[in-house]
Amino acid sequence: MSIIDRIPALVAAGEEAITAADTSDQLEEVRVRLLGRKAELPNMLRGVAALPHEQRGPVGRTANAARKALEAQIELKAAQLAEAELETRLARDRVDVTLPADPRPAIGRLHLITQTRREIEDVFLGLGYSIAAGPEVERVYYNFDALNFTETHPSRMLTDTFYIEPAGDVLDPQTRLLRVHTSPGQVRCMESQAPPIYVILPGRVYRPDADATHTPQFHQIEGLAVDEDITLADLKGTLLAFARAIFGSDREIRLRPHFFPFTEPSLEVDVSCFACNDGVTADGERCSLCKGTAWIEVLGCGMVDPNVLAAVRRPGYDPEKVQGFAFGMGVERIAMLKHGISDLRVLYDNDVRFLEQF
Ligand code: PHE
Repeated sequence: MSIIDRIPALVAAGEEAITAADTSDQLEEVRVRLLGRKAELPNMLRGVAALPHEQRGPVGRTANAARKALEAQIELKAAQLAEAELETRLARDRVDVTLPADPRPAIGRLHLITQTRREIEDVFLGLGYSIAAGPEVERVYYNFDALNFTETHPSRMLTDTFYIEPAGDVLDPQTRLLRVHTSPGQVRCMESQAPPIYVILPGRVYRPDADATHTPQFHQIEGLAVDEDITLADLKGTLLAFARAIFGSDREIRLRPHFFPFTEPSLEVDVSCFACNDGVTADGERCSLCKGTAWIEVLGCGMVDPNVLAAVRRPGYDPEKVQGFAFGMGVERIAMLKHGISDLRVLYDNDVRFLEQF
């Protein structure tokens, strides 16, 4: 068999290998194997000169044609593979330049206490009240004396109030403390303006208590109205409007006698329970919110004590001429009642899984 008869088989095997190559790297291996320096076809071409004279022409031409054919096929396949590989790379590296540069930052929200405070403020703004604020670091004078607290009132004790260091005599009116309620703002407000006054005073207050329903710092909203001919009926109407705006339009309120040094008479206000009917839930259980009583305590209030009006160092507060009412509520308590929160401390843990619900 002449050397020339090997050529078709070489070409056929070469074509098969070229077709089978799946990547440019594989194709390059195939090229080396078929046309590289040690491959059979190039060797054959190099050996042409050593062949008998009459074989040189046919072998040289046939082998050369075979090499060219394989080269052409490799070139074609290389172009196909390069294009396919480019496509894959482009698809993989695809960048959508119209997308926002970064994930949208999560938009936060107001803390439930802030939301509740604003909701209550809105109710009173709607009733014509304005909003003011007093200092959190107060004097004994405004926190107790001007509010008609007796010298023996238990709240004045070192264990019941945070006094500011260096602690002075707790009975010295100038001694500083963290206010235990927003009521000192009543006196400061009256000292700063003549009647009529319709104001609410939101703010932080401080007491050394800590359990499921008390934190050492919490929020109150004080209300004060001073004008001529103010009666308890005005107070009740105002608080009824408040209760309905916050807890639902079919709420009722009831007033119970109580005691505060700075109001006379003093009252506690209950709102009719919004979670049950007369203390019984829809499934016939005793209501846990109102403890089956049908009423929920929401705030303290009363008519401004004439002694408080008389202590105001400014004309216009003659207790014979003007009267007033005042009330004070806990913002956390209102939020807990409205949203069925049983432990006050979750409002301060700042677990976003809780806060995000509101
Ligand atoms: N200051 C009272 C308290 O903290 C609440 C209150 C305010 C009561 C105004 C009557 C009038 O408990």
